[in-house]
Amino acid sequence: MSEAENLTNLPENNASRDADALYGVSRWGEGLITVLDNGHIGLLHPSRPEAVPTDLMSVIDNLEQRGISAPVLLRVADFIRWRIDQINDAFNSAITELEYHGSYKGVFPIKVNQQAQVIDRIVAYGERHSFGFEVGSKAELLIAMAHNQGSESALICNGVKDEEFIQLALMSLQLGFNTFLVLESPRELDLVLAVAKRMKLRPQLGIRIKLTHEVSGNWAASSGDRSTFGMTIAQVMDVVDALRADGFLDCLKLQHCHLGSQVPNIIEIRMAAQEACRFYLELRKEGAPLEFLDLGGGLGVDYTGEHRATENSTNYTLKEYCLNIVETVKYAMDEADAPHPVIITESGRACVAQSSMLLFNVLEATQFDSTDPVVGAEDDHTLLKSMLAVEDYLTPERVNEAWNDLVYYRNEMRALLKSGQVSLRETAKAERIHLYMMSRIKTMLADSDMENEEMGKAMEQTADILHGNFSLFQSLPDVWAIDQIHPIAPLHRLNEKPRRRAILSDITCDSDGKIDKFVLGDGVSNTLPVHDLRAAEDYYLGVFFVGAYQETLGDLHNLFGDTNVVTIELRDDGSFELMHEQDGDTISEVLSYVEYDPRLMVNNFKKTVESAVRAGKLSPRERLEMITAFKDSINGYTYFER
Ligand SMILES: Cc1ncc(COP(=O)(O)O)c(C=O)c1O
Repeated sequence: MSEAENLTNLPENNASRDADALYGVSRWGEGLITVLDNGHIGLLHPSRPEAVPTDLMSVIDNLEQRGISAPVLLRVADFIRWRIDQINDAFNSAITELEYHGSYKGVFPIKVNQQAQVIDRIVAYGERHSFGFEVGSKAELLIAMAHNQGSESALICNGVKDEEFIQLALMSLQLGFNTFLVLESPRELDLVLAVAKRMKLRPQLGIRIKLTHEVSGNWAASSGDRSTFGMTIAQVMDVVDALRADGFLDCLKLQHCHLGSQVPNIIEIRMAAQEACRFYLELRKEGAPLEFLDLGGGLGVDYTGEHRATENSTNYTLKEYCLNIVETVKYAMDEADAPHPVIITESGRACVAQSSMLLFNVLEATQFDSTDPVVGAEDDHTLLKSMLAVEDYLTPERVNEAWNDLVYYRNEMRALLKSGQVSLRETAKAERIHLYMMSRIKTMLADSDMENEEMGKAMEQTADILHGNFSLFQSLPDVWAIDQIHPIAPLHRLNEKPRRRAILSDITCDSDGKIDKFVLGDGVSNTLPVHDLRAAEDYYLGVFFVGAYQETLGDLHNLFGDTNVVTIELRDDGSFELMHEQDGDTISEVLSYVEYDPRLMVNNFKKTVESAVRAGKLSPRERLEMITAFKDSINGYTYFER
């Protein structure tokens, strides 16, 4: 589906349309996520526009019935297939359009998502494009070697290599994999040549260069002189000389560079490609028979849908990215009368980010207002009387004045409490009036739809805190580490106007476990519009586009483990097929990750309970109940369970 076509997926009814505009779903949803007319979030089939959208709330219901409860990481296989097709098709179209004579070979960098289910999908969907792998460690190389992708797909070995890594890579070459051993540093050269000679093999070598051009964005440190990986110009020349001296220069087939992830600006991509071409041409002049130009990762995802060169967005489309690269390489090669190389890119984020979403329920809300009116009394302190009088002039026109007065009076009461001039009870009344008036002001602002920047900021400071059943550190580590913004929206009730604003807090006991940046239709906001929670009804939120980097970077803070994970395939009738299900970590599993022996723990607990029985504090029946509860817990989910 083209990016223009995606905009036709707007909901039909007005309320859902309003929600779509408010949360910016069509803007960031890439034609994959939509607001349905029933006010639920739906998943659209990316390449079958006639398919009925899949209602995410019915997915949650269905999973609940199967015993798979929230929080759950939902992976949509169709979205992986769509992105692999899109990336390959966009490069091939650019190649045809610009009459480029070389070809494109994409590889998936395993570090971006190593989960077996994802890798299996990539192998299956990538086959027709000869889509290969990039690996950065022995473990990742073993994953690649365990999948027979055929000799047409490239296997790029980056990362710091020991002898074993090199030997494995050369074994894969021997087996018919199209393996490139990329020299990351001059130090690696001697080792690679020693192992190759011992194995009597001519390796396919690559050389990782350090581009001098620095890019912007969160991963700027991956580019420029101070980047950790790659060789400087002087080192590159030393390696070329050493290869020539040892008779291995003819093995140098590939040049590699990596700009960093999520490059926001297309001009930076073009400039980096230009510089890479200059290196490539110079190396060929030196006698290296280079044929492959690997430009690494960098293709960004427009998480905010703003289409701007900011850290969480990009000012280019996939089509522009491919055209810019192919055109730059073609121009540089034609000028030097050199053959067009095979272009390789290592786009992992752009391949899988869209495919996963974290779905979770809200456990409770902390609110900073109250709908309980406060009744005045004759003997109220004058400040309390002034606070109550604010209600008389609380109108949309005087709302700022009313707010300022309230805050002033409340603070005066607090000061009087400190100096012993009013009682705790009187100050509590001031706090209650303040909370009640806050709720009046919030309702007034929500109803009037008026633009009021000052009040908007004031309301942000009093936004609700929704406590969600998830761990930021386990499921969304980049939100904590680098202020990554993922689109977030309620999964239902979108045909009701959300009357409250909130930030999100996770289930860990860490004040950093919060989300306070949200993508909305009109840009990035510090609060998320949400609905009032209803008793006995779960409220669900979804965090979208979490398929890149989040799963393995997550940690066990407070011992919250992996969530349940399901992989689904969308069916044309709006239902889905459960392709794979992975239970989340049990408490016993996370305990063993941090070196506990759960059986020993049960035994120790039994001893404690037994001594309580011996001391007459517990009956034998109570002993059984306690031990059963302990065992149930140790085998249960680490997240909040009903
Ligand atoms: C060498 C290399 N290639 C590819 C990637 C993936 O890049 P992206 O996140 O842009 O997909 C990375 C990640 O930083 C990398 O280090």
